[in-house]
Amino acid sequence: MTLPKTMTALILRQDGYAPGTGEMPTDLSPFVDLAEIPVPEPREGQVLVKVARAAVNPSDLMFVSGQYGQPRKAGLPAGFEGVGEVVAGNPALLGQRVSFFGMGWGTWAEYAIADARMMIPLRPDVSDADAAGLIVNPMTAMAMFDIAREDGAGAFVFTAGGSQLGKFLLGLARDTGVAAIPVVRRAEQAPALKALGAAEVLVSTSPDFVKRAKDVFAKHGPRILLDAVADQVAADLFAAMPRGARWICYGRLASTPPRLDQMGQFIFMNKRIEGFWLTNWLRATPPETVAQVVAEMQGRFASGAWRTDVSELLPLSQALERFPAALSAKDAKVQIAP
Ligand SMILES: NC(=O)c1ccc[n+]([C@@H]2O[C@H](COP(=O)([O-])OP(=O)(O)OC[C@H]3O[C@@H](n4cnc5c(N)ncnc54)[C@H](OP(=O)(O)O)[C@@H]3O)[C@@H](O)[C@H]2O)c1
Repeated sequence: MTLPKTMTALILRQDGYAPGTGEMPTDLSPFVDLAEIPVPEPREGQVLVKVARAAVNPSDLMFVSGQYGQPRKAGLPAGFEGVGEVVAGNPALLGQRVSFFGMGWGTWAEYAIADARMMIPLRPDVSDADAAGLIVNPMTAMAMFDIAREDGAGAFVFTAGGSQLGKFLLGLARDTGVAAIPVVRRAEQAPALKALGAAEVLVSTSPDFVKRAKDVFAKHGPRILLDAVADQVAADLFAAMPRGARWICYGRLASTPPRLDQMGQFIFMNKRIEGFWLTNWLRATPPETVAQVVAEMQGRFASGAWRTDVSELLPLSQALERFPAALSAKDAKVQIAP
C-alpha cells in the first residue's frame, strides 16, 4: 500500500498544562488546529494505523485544554483512542483491524501510531462505533465494577449515571444480579436507566434528594460510590452512605469541588476516599487478566449486551466548527471519522 506523505489532523496548539477552570470546553478552537502534517513513521514495536473512527471523551476535552493528568505536546494530534487498520510497521500485523490508544500521536488524524503490544485485534462482529471507544470507558467500567462486586454488599452507587460509562456499569450489574444505583441530575433520564437495569435512580436536583438517598441506602446497603463528578452532591451522598463506605473518585466533571464537613466519619465509621485511573490499573494488572477483560468486552459488544450510543459522526475536516453544537447534545457520544 502506498502511503501519502502528509495527512490531515487536529493538532494541539499548546504545550504542558493550563491553570484550568475545571470547565470542560465544547469549543476546542483555542486548543487545536486543523493542519496538514507529515504522516508519522512507526518505530520498533509500533505500527501505523489508518484511523476509521476516533472517540471524543471527557478526558480528551480535559487533555486538549491542559487540565488532564498528563502534559500536552504542541504540534501532535489530539485524541486518545480510536479504531482503524494497521497499514505499516510489523508485516505480520498489516491489514489487522484494531482498537488502539494513541501513543503520543493522537487519533484525531487520518493516521496514528499505536504500540503493537497494546492495541486490540478486533472481532469482525464488533462495530466501528463500539470499537472506536473500546478501551477508555469499557475497560474502566469492567475494572471498577470488579471493585463493586468484590466489596460484597450486592449494591453500589455511581454518579454521572447517564454517561456512556454508566450505561456499561448498568449492563454489568444487570447481568450479575448486583443492584446498581445511578445518580443523575435530569429526572427525564430515569426511565431509560431503569430499562437498562438500574435498581433505583437518584435525581440530585430533586428537593428530597438526600432523604431519598438515605432510604435507598437503607434498603440496598451500598458501600461503594463510583464518582465521576466530584462535587457537593457526591460528598452528601458519601456522608449518607453506611459504615465502611468507599468514595472512589474517577472523574471531576464538576468545576466546583466539594466541602467535607463530617470528618468524624473517617474516624468512627471507617469511611475512605480513593481515586481510580485506568492508566494505573493497566500498569498494575497482569497482562493475562487484561486479555480476559478485553475478550469479555468484545463479547459484550458483539452480543449486544453493551452498545455505544453515538449522536454524531463528524468528518475530521468539519469537527472543529461542529464541536460546540455536537458536544452539547445529551446522552450519546460524538465520534470523528477522518
Ligand atoms: N479515571 C479513569 O480512568 C476514567 C476512565 C474513563 C472515563 N473516566 C471518566 O468517566 C466519566 C464519564 O465518561 P463518559 O465518557 O462515559 O461520559 P459521557 O458519556 O460524555 O457523559 C458525561 C455525563 O456526565 C454528566 N455530567 C457532566 N457534568 C456534570 C456535572 N457537573 N454534574 C453532574 N453530572 C455531570 C452528564 O450529565 P448531563 O447529561 O446531565 O449533562 C453526562 O451524563 C468522565 O468524567 C470521564 O473522565 C475516567
